Amino acid sequence: MNMREKIEAAAARYPDRRSAIMPALLIAQKEHGHLPGPVLEEVSDILGVERVWVYELATFYTLFHTEPVGLFHLQLCDNLSCLLRRSEDLLRHLETVLGIEKGGTTPDGLFTLSTVECLGACEMAPVMQVGDDYHGDLDIARIDALLDRLRAAAGQTTGAELAAAGPPGE
Ligand code: FES
Repeated sequence: MNMREKIEAAAARYPDRRSAIMPALLIAQKEHGHLPGPVLEEVSDILGVERVWVYELATFYTLFHTEPVGLFHLQLCDNLSCLLRRSEDLLRHLETVLGIEKGGTTPDGLFTLSTVECLGACEMAPVMQVGDDYHGDLDIARIDALLDRLRAAAGQTTGAELAAAGPPGE
């Protein structure tokens, strides 16, 4: 199924096509890696909804990316529970070892570093989301081990999988 067919199938599950914008954006992002303007316009055209409605959702939720992100998007929670468990130290450490600031992407395209609102997993604060996975009870040693695992996984990733994950430097 191509992107249009997938979005049409998702839209068929809703009584109002406007309600299908979120699933349509997820489908488009999986297809393109991120959501640049032309992709947002395509989603709007497929659903037959106002472009501003699509743009509003794509720019409001942190799970959507209008700019390219690295192969691994590190989303560190900086809300209260995580702050109380020293997530700021983890952010500083990540910025140092990756050589980027919050919001940046490493030159090799492997990592994008962001802070996000509460991930709803405060019981294992401090928490960081990477892709669909949550990593909790983090400290600097665990962060370093996680980065090593991700680098190793990237080394084993095939070209096709890298393309499916989205072109980091595009
Ligand atoms: Fe970090 Fe809730 S405050 S997961």
